[in-house]
This record gives sequence, C-alpha cells and structure tokens, in this order.
Amino acid sequence: MEIDFWEQRWKENQTGFHLEKVNPLLEKFWPELKLAEASHVFVPLCGKSLDLMWLNKSGYCVTGVECSQLAVETFFREHDLSCNRVDDENLKFFQAENIHLLQGDFFDMRAEMLADVSAIYDRAALIALPAGIRQRYAAKLLDMLPAHAVMLLITLEYNQTLMPGPPFSVPETEVRALYGKRFDIQKIHQVDVLPDQPRFAQRGLDFLLESVYLLKPGYSPG
Ligand SMILES: C[S@@+](CC[C@H](N)C(=O)[O-])C[C@H]1O[C@@H](n2cnc3c(N)ncnc32)[C@H](O)[C@@H]1O
Repeated sequence: MEIDFWEQRWKENQTGFHLEKVNPLLEKFWPELKLAEASHVFVPLCGKSLDLMWLNKSGYCVTGVECSQLAVETFFREHDLSCNRVDDENLKFFQAENIHLLQGDFFDMRAEMLADVSAIYDRAALIALPAGIRQRYAAKLLDMLPAHAVMLLITLEYNQTLMPGPPFSVPETEVRALYGKRFDIQKIHQVDVLPDQPRFAQRGLDFLLESVYLLKPGYSPG
C-alpha cells in the first residue's frame, strides 16, 4: 500500500479501522507484558487511535508513527492537547505530554528513535500491509528494536481469496515466520469476530479470526 492510498483514505474519512473506544483487547491483555512503570511503548502505524491515550494515561511514554498528517493533527485536536512540532528531513515530530507522534513513513524511521523502547503495540499495523511489504516492515521493526523489547500483536485471519485487503489476512504461520527467530510467540486469544462485523460479512467473508499474540525475546520454531 502506498502512502498516497492512506492519505486519501484519511481525507475521504474512509477510516472504518478506527475504533471510537479503547480496544478491549489492549485493556485485557496489556498486563500480560508485565512492563515496568513509565516504560516507553512504540505504536507503529498508529492512526489517531484512542489506544495511544490509554497507554499515556496508564503511565507509559508513547511513540507512534503515522503517515497521515491529518490523522496526527486530528488526534491532538480531539484530545485538546497543544503540541510542539519539529521537522526532520523526512519526518515531523509532534509531541504533547508523553505522547510523541512521528508523522511520515515508517520506513524512514531510524533505530535511535526507538533506542529505549520496551514494548510494541501493533493493532492493525502488520495487517494493513500487503505481503511483500509485511516482510520489509517486520525486518525493519526487528532491526530498530532493542533486544529486550516485547510485543502485543493483534491480527486478523480470513480467506484472502474472498476479499482483497486491507486489512490483509495474516495467519499464525506468517507471524511465526516473520518474528519466530527473535521472539517466543504465544497466541493468547482467538475469536471469530465475523458476527460482530457485518461490513466484512457483506464483503463475502465466511470467518474472520481476530488473534492476540504475546511476543517475548526468545526463539520459537515454526
Ligand atoms: C489500518 S490503520 C490502523 C491504525 C491504528 N493502528 C488503529 O488501530 O486505529 C493503518 C494506519 O497506518 C498508516 N500507515 C500506512 N502505511 C504507513 C507507513 N508506511 N508509515 C506510516 N503510517 C502508515 C495509515 O495511514 C493508517 O492510519
């Protein structure tokens, strides 16, 4: 997916992925990471997710990256936060309280930006990308992350022949292929959410599995 595609979606308000509440899976499973207080959390492809605010209110320092300037500015406006802005060569840094949003392409990030990150929260980031780009995304994320970092990853899985993405179907085999060399991977939740997602049933899907994975440093074969 090109950046232009996503910017257009934000401009046209085609943001069905955005939740008007904090993701219940974040609230339920975040404690499993057992993070130290005030840890630094990275939220890739963050949109204007309310989860950023929840993490901040829970005491974490949060860094997100999002290509759409409209999404970033809307986030700060909707939360009534006045932010500082500093422009780098490719990225713009917006900051208010302990929330840092990098506006620009994830692939323009540099490892030093995540040097003290302890955890990643990926909801609808990996699954937003087509297969070839997912490999580049995971490789770059692994390249930038400190060795001790852990991750909470939420994916969707469905019959990809029935619907083009995004969101794309990312099965467990792929999660293990992308991340298994670095992390011990535990699937801690999986539910067919199709009954609650009529827009996907209308697009012809026959199941839609939402899964939550806990990734901790260590090797997991597969
Ligand atoms: C499916 S949405 C998920 C947003 C957010 N994680 C959430 O749960 O609401 C994917 C987001 O990634 C952004 N995005 C896509 N490709 C990107 C890239 N290469 N760099 C930065 N942001 C990107 C899009 O603008 C979009 O807001």
